[in-house]
Amino acid sequence: MTEKIKWGVLGAAKIALEKVIPAMQNSPIHEVYGLASRDLDKAKISAQELGIPKAYGSYEDLINDPEIDVIYNPLPNDLHVPYTLKCIEAGKHVLCEKPLAMNPEEIDGLIEARDKHKVKVGEAFMVASNPQWIKAREIVQSGQLGKIKAVHGFFSYYNVQKDNIRNIPESGGGGIWDIGCYPVFTSRFVLGKDPGRVVSMLEFDPNFRTDRLGSVLLHYPDDIHMTFTVSTQLVPYQRMLFYGEKKLLEVMIPFNAPPDQANEIRIHDGNFLNPQPEIIRLPVSNQYTMQADAFTQAILDDSEVPVTLENARVNAEVLHAIFESDKLEKWIDVK
Ligand SMILES: NC(=O)c1ccc[n+]([C@@H]2O[C@H](COP(=O)([O-])OP(=O)(O)OC[C@H]3O[C@@H](n4cnc5c(N)ncnc54)[C@H](OP(=O)(O)O)[C@@H]3O)[C@@H](O)[C@H]2O)c1
Repeated sequence: MTEKIKWGVLGAAKIALEKVIPAMQNSPIHEVYGLASRDLDKAKISAQELGIPKAYGSYEDLINDPEIDVIYNPLPNDLHVPYTLKCIEAGKHVLCEKPLAMNPEEIDGLIEARDKHKVKVGEAFMVASNPQWIKAREIVQSGQLGKIKAVHGFFSYYNVQKDNIRNIPESGGGGIWDIGCYPVFTSRFVLGKDPGRVVSMLEFDPNFRTDRLGSVLLHYPDDIHMTFTVSTQLVPYQRMLFYGEKKLLEVMIPFNAPPDQANEIRIHDGNFLNPQPEIIRLPVSNQYTMQADAFTQAILDDSEVPVTLENARVNAEVLHAIFESDKLEKWIDVK
């Protein structure tokens, strides 16, 4: 049997310990082999709890370990680019959490390093590997809803913990970076197009100085209007809607899709007084398992990763334009 691809994880992040690592275990093609923390004891305890063979007391020790093939980077947003670059320069493949970069131009440096070191690098938008999103894209692009003219998204949670990275501007906190990236990414994914211009309105928390409420209009080619609202201080909710001339497609749990129940897409025919939507239930699947499997497979086959750096750069440009629009109170073109 060929040896499994060995993954290493930077930081004992909540998302890694609770969702991503457990979803990656028991794979025939890869294993989570190492976990690094700034605190060796924390790394050892978490590694032991999750059955990970190796623990490291610094990120550099893991990055420079020749036994590690590929690194998952779930560090705070401001550390995505610098640590992804260090990993690439050490010859490792890297799957980095969203948002990959808060300055789109920084992704150019990653592209250059990726090409020089001939490694695979991708953004961890697990939605791109989730069958419900692949199905939604297939339905929309088949034309069965009629021409799509409007898309709407909503994503919110309530979090006022002052030590949470989402509430610390220096760590890349705020709702647009944390969750606004999802309606932008999934609308681009499903429509197969990129928005040309953006207008937005953001409200900032006076103490945290992070954006806690944001509403955005993305203008897509063919005059498609995409609107979304995200908030870090509202009742938790999430939904994505694609409005065609004939039918409406609704992704019921678009982002935190549960791993233990069927994900659901509904197609409405416009009879809103007596709604009887067509319900499409996808087979139960874990989107984090599918994300890691797809990334490992891309390494094994030397094929394209699910979310490339070029794709990540467009998302970063749109997110950057959202902040520019709020600041300058005008439409901003997406470069
Ligand atoms: N794809 C998804 O579904 C999803 C969901 C949630 C979050 N995320 C992304 O994953 C990343 C981590 O989110 P999280 O909620 O898991 O964060 P978290 O629990 O706060 O973990 C971040 C980790 O980064 C390390 N770290 C290094 N420098 C730090 C600093 N200055 N401040 C705080 N932590 C520092 C810490 O590990 P050590 O102390 O062990 O070194 C910490 O455990 C974010 O980029 C977020 O956008 C993605």
